[in-house]
Amino acid sequence: MANSDLSIKDLRAGYGTLDILNGVDLDVPAGQFVALMGPNGAGKSTLLKTLYGMTTIKGGIIEWQGRNIAGYKSRAILGEGISFVPQGRCNFPVMTVDENLQMAAYTIRDSRVKADRDYVYDLFPILKTRRSTLAGNMSGGEQQLLEVAMAVLQRPKVLLVDEPSVGLSPAAIHIVFDELLRLHAAGQTILLVEQNTKKAMEVAERAVILRLGKVIWDGLPKDITHDELGELFLTGKMRGENEAVH
Ligand SMILES: Nc1ncnc2c1ncn2[C@@H]1O[C@H](COP(=O)(O)OP(=O)(O)O)[C@@H](O)[C@H]1O
Ligand SMILES: [Mg+2]
Repeated sequence: MANSDLSIKDLRAGYGTLDILNGVDLDVPAGQFVALMGPNGAGKSTLLKTLYGMTTIKGGIIEWQGRNIAGYKSRAILGEGISFVPQGRCNFPVMTVDENLQMAAYTIRDSRVKADRDYVYDLFPILKTRRSTLAGNMSGGEQQLLEVAMAVLQRPKVLLVDEPSVGLSPAAIHIVFDELLRLHAAGQTILLVEQNTKKAMEVAERAVILRLGKVIWDGLPKDITHDELGELFLTGKMRGENEAVH
């Protein structure tokens, strides 16, 4: 039986001749909620983009359901059940919430679109109350929810989300993370990139730290303090260690 674990091995990728990921190893088991953190420029977004077929792969393996999907095009990866919510809000601002969801359902058979929108409205009750509102007139938090909802409409097996909290008020961040927790409780596998480490450590089951294009720490949020996290971001080492942790 095909499993829905994602297993990344020695992944090297970048932009043209520029190398950004320098051998990333990371497993995302089905059903897990993983937070990927690290300093600016570490390659977090590049990793998500690479999983979604948007960068130049130099080597390594992205094993998915028993196959290596490294090098697949984004459309094929979406078809494999991997959806990506890129950083920033890029929905269609002069369309309503309902119309945005219709756009997201573009790849789905017509007969299923209505049922799938209802499914999304059940998962995101806030959006249901906003269904006739122009997306551009909603708050930042609501727009971010819409972005996640558009990806969820594809019923992905794995949801990749890049920095959903950027530019949001604390109240809006709370709403977005609450929805991610609800999705996870419903069985959704999530790989979340997040600069709000406090929030990420609260919601995720597992914390992974990327630095200079490599995973330097991988463990349970309870096993690392906020100070140690900061130290790792800054130096790549835990306090008192002489060598970088690998
Ligand atoms: N489209 C691109 N073309 C060239 N270099 C890029 C591109 N996008 C990002 N980079 C570079 O890749 C490195 C990692 O960026 P990124 O993955 O966005 O880091 P993070 O998300 O961890 O902050 C940075 O040095 C950045 O300048
Ligand atoms: Mg980024």
